Amino acid sequence: MAQVVSDTPAQPTASPAVTPLDLRRAAGQFATGVTVVTVRDGDGFRGMTANSFTSVSLDPPLVLVSVDRRSETQAGFRASGAFAVSVLAEGQEELSRRFAASGHEKFADLATSLGALGLPLVPNALAHIECRVVAAHEAGDHTLYVGEIVSLAVRPGRPLLYHQGLYRRLDPQGGPPGAGAGSHTAPGSGIKTRSD
Ligand SMILES: Cc1cc2nc3c(=O)[nH]c(=O)nc-3n(C[C@H](O)[C@H](O)[C@H](O)COP(=O)(O)O)c2cc1C
Repeated sequence: MAQVVSDTPAQPTASPAVTPLDLRRAAGQFATGVTVVTVRDGDGFRGMTANSFTSVSLDPPLVLVSVDRRSETQAGFRASGAFAVSVLAEGQEELSRRFAASGHEKFADLATSLGALGLPLVPNALAHIECRVVAAHEAGDHTLYVGEIVSLAVRPGRPLLYHQGLYRRLDPQGGPPGAGAGSHTAPGSGIKTRSD
C-alpha cells in the first residue's frame, strides 16, 4: 500500500569513498517496518529496536537481523542462541524509542509475555517470530544473526513504518497506483509522517 514517489533521479555520490552519512541517506530511502528484537542475557533479558529484520528463506524458514557489535543486546544473541522478533504496530513509536536507547531498564512497566523459547514478546505487536540462531556472520561493524523460526504468531493491524529517519504510517486513502480510490486521489507518497 505504501508508495514512495521521487521527482529527481538518484545521483551518484561525487566521491568514491562512502561515508556513514552517505549510506544513512541512501539506506534511509528504503522504507521499512520496525521491530523489537529480544534475547536472554544471563538471568535477564535485553532488547533493541531493529529495522534490519529480513526474511531470508522459506524452506527452511530463516530470517536475519543485523546487529551493531557495540550494542548491549549483542552478547545475548550468542549467550542464549535465540532471539524473538516483535513487529511493531502503528502507534508503537514510544516502544521503538524505548528499545532504541541503551543503558536503562527497557522492560520496566511493559506487559510482555514469554514465548515458546522463554523470550519476552512485546504486547500488541503485529507478529511474534521466535528463532534459534543457526548462523552468525561478521560483517564490518555489525553481525548478521540468521535464525530458524520455531514459532510464529500474527495478528491483523497496521504497521509502524520508518523512512528517512522518521516514523510514518500507511495512508488510509493510499493504495496501489491505478487501483481503486487511490487512482483518483491527489498524488502523494502514500505514507504519512507521525513523528521522529
Ligand atoms: C528505527 C530504528 C531501527 C534500528 N535498527 C537497528 C538495527 O537493525 N540494528 C542495530 O544494530 N541497531 C538498530 N537501531 C539502533 C538500536 O536500536 C540502538 O543502537 C539501541 O541503543 C541498541 O540498544 P542496546 O545497546 O541496549 O542493545 C535502530 C534504531 C531505530 C530507531
